[in-house]
Amino acid sequence: MTEPSLPSGNDAQVSIPWDELRSLARDATTRSYVPYSNFAVGAAAVTVDGRIVTGSNIENASYGLTLCAECSLVSDLVRTGGGLLRAVAVVSGSGEPCMPCGRCRQLLFEHGGPDCLVEGDDQIRTVAELLPGGFGPDRMAQG
Ligand code: THU
Repeated sequence: MTEPSLPSGNDAQVSIPWDELRSLARDATTRSYVPYSNFAVGAAAVTVDGRIVTGSNIENASYGLTLCAECSLVSDLVRTGGGLLRAVAVVSGSGEPCMPCGRCRQLLFEHGGPDCLVEGDDQIRTVAELLPGGFGPDRMAQG
């Protein structure tokens, strides 16, 4: 079995501004709304066409409705023109990398594809490594 190939075009060997992404993600944590967990998370990404998008987590009294930083980032992506994420940095308010939760791995698979790079701890991984065999548009096309 091969991994799904859509969305494609995300394996270009472009230089990724990791330091800028980490810094923007850290900055985004200052605009989180986290009265319940007090755990701020920020995310910043570069798209395959070189745009930068960011997001912060936004909580809710109904905890399950919390928007993770990656949710806000995807909203920023779509609102500012869509396209495909190339690389994403996620950090907590202390500045440490933060691994995407399960739901957010699915979001990154949808909007970055399997080759999108993610820094959530001391390693940079692909979305395919974080969500092996993920469910996406190719799976639906297979019926
Ligand atoms: N959180 C994120 O923003 N992204 C993740 O991938 C993991 C968790 C947030 C949700 C909640 O506001 C806080 O971290 C504690 O779970």
